[in-house]
Amino acid sequence: MSKGLMTRAALAAIMLAGGGVAAHAELTFNNAVTGEVLNLEDAGEEGKDSEAFKKFLQTGVNPYNEDKNCLAKGQELYLAMCSGCHGQKAEGKLGPGLNDSYWTYPQGATDKGFFEIIFGGATGQMGPMYGALNVDEMLLSMAWVRHLYKDDPKDAGEWLTEELAANFKPYDAKSEVPKPGADAPENCKLGD
Ligand code: HEC
Repeated sequence: MSKGLMTRAALAAIMLAGGGVAAHAELTFNNAVTGEVLNLEDAGEEGKDSEAFKKFLQTGVNPYNEDKNCLAKGQELYLAMCSGCHGQKAEGKLGPGLNDSYWTYPQGATDKGFFEIIFGGATGQMGPMYGALNVDEMLLSMAWVRHLYKDDPKDAGEWLTEELAANFKPYDAKSEVPKPGADAPENCKLGD
């Protein structure tokens, strides 16, 4: 291989590896309490290749919000990992309620901030979740928390985008959780 060709091949490889990043900058995430930049490498690779997580890294908006194929999976994860401290309906228990418009950490009103709180933890019992959930599972459980929102949609904050607000109703415990359809992504299918 001539020197010129090798350089070109090497360049192409670099561009392939970094191409996506160069085209759309990925967001940085900060610890909710200290502001320190969170290292996403602290979480394993699992879940990082989901379409939803890749999108989230670019936009800071959780693509799973009100995704009928994925709400049930989010519920399953929330009940296993969060409800013990935050209550079955996120009404609050040992940890604060998550189903209203009040946030101790105001960034909880955005999906980016919500993710930062879960990934990096806050104070006391609210430890970082990156060892317990993969990043895609974090987004799934967050979407379930948003679904449990009980207050006036007008006060929900930034996470309730105009697009979502068009069809959003405060949580009604009597309404059934939609089951994942045949077209649901693998990661939203329920275990046996
Ligand atoms: C062992 C108990 C415990 C578990 C498990 C737990 N939390 Fe928490 N969580 C807390 C406590 C306590 C706080 C208050 C911490 C603070 O104010 O710094 C908190 C705070 C939060 C906040 C910030 C609330 C606000 O008003 O700003 C969010 C968001 C949150 N938790 C989400 C979750 C989610 C989602 C899960 C599951 C993936 C989870 N937590 C699991 C105990 C827990």
